[in-house]
Amino acid sequence: MAKPRLLITRKLRTVVEKRASHDYDVVFNVDDDVFSEEDLILACQGVDAVLPCHSERFDAAVIRAIGPRLKIIANHSVGTDHVDLDAAKAAGIVVTNTPDVLSDATAEIAILCMLGAARRGAEGDALVRSGQWTTWSPSFMVGRQVTGRRFGVLGMGRVGQVTADRARGFGMEIHYHNRRRLPDHLEKRAVYHPTLDGLLAVSDVLSLHCPATAENMNVMNARTLALLPDRAIVVNTARGALIDEIALIAALRSGKLFAAGLDVFQTEPGGNSTLAGMSNVFLLPHIGSATEDTRDAMGFRALDNLDAFFAGQAPGDRVA
Ligand code: DGY
Repeated sequence: MAKPRLLITRKLRTVVEKRASHDYDVVFNVDDDVFSEEDLILACQGVDAVLPCHSERFDAAVIRAIGPRLKIIANHSVGTDHVDLDAAKAAGIVVTNTPDVLSDATAEIAILCMLGAARRGAEGDALVRSGQWTTWSPSFMVGRQVTGRRFGVLGMGRVGQVTADRARGFGMEIHYHNRRRLPDHLEKRAVYHPTLDGLLAVSDVLSLHCPATAENMNVMNARTLALLPDRAIVVNTARGALIDEIALIAALRSGKLFAAGLDVFQTEPGGNSTLAGMSNVFLLPHIGSATEDTRDAMGFRALDNLDAFFAGQAPGDRVA
């Protein structure tokens, strides 16, 4: 029997590509260039399955234009905000993601962002590198200590839970807001806030871990940022769409916020040039899941979903 034809849109780890080649007739993107919308449609028209990343947008128009051959979008990401799930369902296309396997890596980056923001990591690094580190005194580069403070988690899913565990290691008191309260064994004595406003009022550090659904767009805006304790720290490793960056910049400039640690931005790649010019911001280029172990695991998980689908079984991570 002919192998299903699979488009892999970006360069993946060699072990993942090898396994894919064994089981599928793979179309690789050898140059790893981002597809234009037109090229993405064209490439998907000639395959049974696609294994994309969050860098490829499957909006309703793209899905309609692809036509009947494509049967499954097996994402190499936990986030699925780049795929119009309703349009995929309407077109009879199955959609899967890669949950769980990137929680540890993303939690590490959330903690790095928190510490980088609280302890002025970007500023200190720049000072040493530029050769302008010419002094030291007890009042030099004084930051905020996170030990013992309140760590607010917005979105207590898998990544939120692991990040909360890591924050516990700093003696932080965990607070969270989620659609549903967690059972005791997952809550682990964290304080549940039934409203977002309730969580914000007690979050010395606020870490975002919710998906970028339509209702969560700009969930952190001028009104909600004002509810945080004075000199709070905001951390975002989820999606840039969750924060109104103009309001964030205003809060950082006014001193309402002490600092922010950001791995994701409204515009990617690229980020925000105003934020990039500010000293109280620690910035990374969307690398939450970028470790060797996690990239392998994400690739294998996406292939597991494809294997199940083509074996006539339900893929474990079906989201549409
Ligand atoms: C994810 O898995 O959603 C990460 O943001 C990388 O795409």
